[in-house]
Amino acid sequence: MSHHDERTFVMAKPDAVQRGLIGEIVSRLEGKGLTMVGGKFMQIDEELAHEHYAEHEGKPFFEGLVEFITSGPVFAMVWEGADATRQVRRLMGETDAQEAAPGTIRGDLGNDLGHNLIHGSDHEDEGANEREIELFFDDSELVDWEHDTAAWVY
Ligand code: PPS
Repeated sequence: MSHHDERTFVMAKPDAVQRGLIGEIVSRLEGKGLTMVGGKFMQIDEELAHEHYAEHEGKPFFEGLVEFITSGPVFAMVWEGADATRQVRRLMGETDAQEAAPGTIRGDLGNDLGHNLIHGSDHEDEGANEREIELFFDDSELVDWEHDTAAWVY
């Protein structure tokens, strides 16, 4: 990992998996020039869901969110690049897919607030990226590699 790079946690949620959009999501992040350094297809259990969404415990949507994220398999990923956390959030678009701008993943492909296809670590929550990566991945599951360096690759 070069010194200016950052890693962030990303997940294609159960609706993305069910709709066959894993490839499209990966494609958009690859297209931007970000580098995937980890990925696994997995089922989130109740305990992991509670840990991952701990900050939302007690909010009205919490139980629904846990139910949704455990409803089927997800594709969990770690992506690397300059300012990767914020870049991924920009590509994702706003939480509410109906408000998300065209051109974003949620704006182009998402259809409602809860079912918004993708999760990315919050860039405004200091250290959220590292915490989430650690929660989902062992160090041994992450691959250190670099794109053949060209100026247009992050
Ligand atoms: S908050 O309260 O501002 O931090 O919430 P927000 O960042 O917008 O959303 C946090 C995650 O909860 C999901 N969410 C919902 N799910 C179901 N129903 C409702 N109403 C709802 N509101 C928010 C939202 O998709 C976020 O999930 P992640 O996986 O973090 O993107």
